[in-house]
Amino acid sequence: MEQTITKESIWKKEEEEAKIQIYKYVFGFAEAAVIKCAIELKIANVIESHGRPTMTLSQLSTVLICSPPLLFRIMRFLTHRGIFKEEITPENLIAYSQTPLSHMLINVAPLLLLENSPEIVASWQNLSARLQNSYNNNDDSDLLVPFEVAHGKDIWSYGARNPGFNRMFNEGLACNARVITLPAILENCGDIFNGVESLVDVGGGNGTTLSVLVKAFPWMKGINFDLPNVVLTSEKYDGVEHVGGNMLDFVPKADAAFFMWILHAWDDEDCIKILKNCKEAIGENKAGGKVIIIDSVIDENEENKMATDIRLTLDIMMMTRSRKGRERTADEWTQLLINKAGFSRCTITPIPAAVPSIIQAFIS
Ligand SMILES: C[S@@+](CC[C@H](N)C(=O)[O-])C[C@H]1O[C@@H](n2cnc3c(N)ncnc32)[C@H](O)[C@@H]1O
Repeated sequence: MEQTITKESIWKKEEEEAKIQIYKYVFGFAEAAVIKCAIELKIANVIESHGRPTMTLSQLSTVLICSPPLLFRIMRFLTHRGIFKEEITPENLIAYSQTPLSHMLINVAPLLLLENSPEIVASWQNLSARLQNSYNNNDDSDLLVPFEVAHGKDIWSYGARNPGFNRMFNEGLACNARVITLPAILENCGDIFNGVESLVDVGGGNGTTLSVLVKAFPWMKGINFDLPNVVLTSEKYDGVEHVGGNMLDFVPKADAAFFMWILHAWDDEDCIKILKNCKEAIGENKAGGKVIIIDSVIDENEENKMATDIRLTLDIMMMTRSRKGRERTADEWTQLLINKAGFSRCTITPIPAAVPSIIQAFIS
């Protein structure tokens, strides 16, 4: 039988689907909460160290000291999403094994715990206040930053006064660098460090990034530059010198400057100040002198929708925790680096299957 398709019939069909889809948002927090529960219980670690590819529900519940029926429901939720795999053993018992995604729960636990911590979640709750306060408000000092609304101070001052949060933040970012970002850079674009004898990591956190880079490129000396309270509590690494300070005031001298997940937190005006300090640190006329930036490049037409989704999430994240930070398009990066900060040229290299790109700005 022939069916007529009208605008109304399409709307009706989508409306029916929306009645189910909306629950994804009603319970948007639930996925993160169950994953946090799995990390806190160390489910992935226990399966990993079990010594066999699969672990039965009964074995798992014994080690975790959890009720099997409750644990079964948590595992059913996770396996449905591809986090762990459920199997039935020849003895007809329910058993679980790792998937690449469940394995990540071990490696990136510090990042997941940071981004789902009460401090960070509280800042996301104040997003609408920021937008309502922004109309006709061009004075930065009055801008409501959601993190500041929740905690009474900016994220870095809060970290300086709360050693527990400071440690959680630095460990979260360090694990993101060690497990995800740096392997992708080293595998695809390690040649960006050729000829660089000294590298200053501006906003380098606890120095994990440089500790990996100086091992991979042993001719390179590393200077890890971050706020005094961050470097004061950072571990010592061979080949890495820690320097405390404010990048808006100065940047320590080196052949090249490295920024990972830094410039997206600042507006063009502050980026220009920071980049000017880098030029002074490198030397205005240094041949081959450059700044290496690891940050997102927004392109809504890109085929990798999942990566774009994450970049757009990072953009909103910046709205929650920084005064004027935002993710930039390729045009906006070029405008900033060449037209405003005065670099002679820049290149943007996507890192295959990764969220950030490598942006290089050359002095001459
Ligand atoms: C998002 S984290 C990035 C850390 C590291 N680059 C990474 O990707 O793992 C931003 C870093 O910038 C540092 N930072 C913030 N303001 C700074 C300033 N004014 N001067 C120097 N470092 C600063 C913070 O302490 C923090 O370690």
